[in-house]
Amino acid sequence: MSKVTVIGAGNVGATCANVLVCNQVADEVVLLDIKEGVAEGKAMDIMQTANILNINTRLVGVTNDYAMTEGSDMVVITSGIPRKPGMTREELIGVNAGIVKSVMENVLKHSPNAIILCISNPMDTMTYLIHKTTNLPKNRIIGMGGALDSARFKYFLSIALNANPTEVEGIVIGGHGDTTMIPLVRYAAHRGIPASTLLPEEQLTKVAADTMVGGATLTKLLGTSAWYAPGAAGAQVVAAVLHDQKKLISCSALLEGEYGHKDLCIGVPCVLGRNGIEKVVEFELTATEKELFDKSAEAVHKTNEALATVL
Ligand code: APR
Repeated sequence: MSKVTVIGAGNVGATCANVLVCNQVADEVVLLDIKEGVAEGKAMDIMQTANILNINTRLVGVTNDYAMTEGSDMVVITSGIPRKPGMTREELIGVNAGIVKSVMENVLKHSPNAIILCISNPMDTMTYLIHKTTNLPKNRIIGMGGALDSARFKYFLSIALNANPTEVEGIVIGGHGDTTMIPLVRYAAHRGIPASTLLPEEQLTKVAADTMVGGATLTKLLGTSAWYAPGAAGAQVVAAVLHDQKKLISCSALLEGEYGHKDLCIGVPCVLGRNGIEKVVEFELTATEKELFDKSAEAVHKTNEALATVL
């Protein structure tokens, strides 16, 4: 029996729960929200698709009842406010740090052995906050950002290449911010053929630029931040862990010297399996890529400084 709890039944949390049950990632999923009735309502709506979609996973929604989350193998944190048009993810820190900290206290009372996946923004800083406030082993705390950024990178690449998105390779490392993420264009490929041999440099540069503002573009269109890809990227990470898939996915991980940095969580290629982050893989970076990574790390450290009031 495997059990996953999703905290926050808003756009991202409910979408994540929906993908988890549709793909039968776990036997049981609990969706929890602080707002009266919201999680119950969304869970009921999703479960009314069970017969249509042949869903065999049990999904329950609860209002702030952490007893129902007891013994979860994995807990996904999506509680907090999303950004509005014109806002950066970093501007959410004041409100979301308090929410994530208090939610984690409740989560661990009932699921002390759970692996934690953080989606709430600013994601790298919220993942670091979880490290700092819980002292859990570093393999058990995962930040989702790179999985989403990489999915967006592959989407824009597939359009530029006129290719099937499932046949495109691409990875984004660095911070989960509009100016801090680093789409590794040099490693992008279509069925193993380097994208740099298939597309002119200007087009690849545009793919990378579109990826970096991928979230901001959607926030402008939607009036709030996106949820389908963030929710699905969260479910992808949960599946990689619970099913011990050993997939290489970019996630925010605590660095202890890897890529020349320490004491921060930032997007790096991770092998995900039943123990969470089983390995941080150190890609060879060019001097330019390394310089971008160093700048990104510096920006994430700076955002982390704002945690002083809650730590
Ligand atoms: N405990 C449980 N749920 C909470 C708490 C709390 N302490 N505080 C807020 N929530 C819930 C809200 O009631 C709301 O239903 O979190 C949910 C957030 O949902 P949305 O406002 O729809 O936000 P969403 O788009 O899902 O984004 C959530 O993920 O991608 C990030 O930047 C995004 O930080 C944001 C988070």
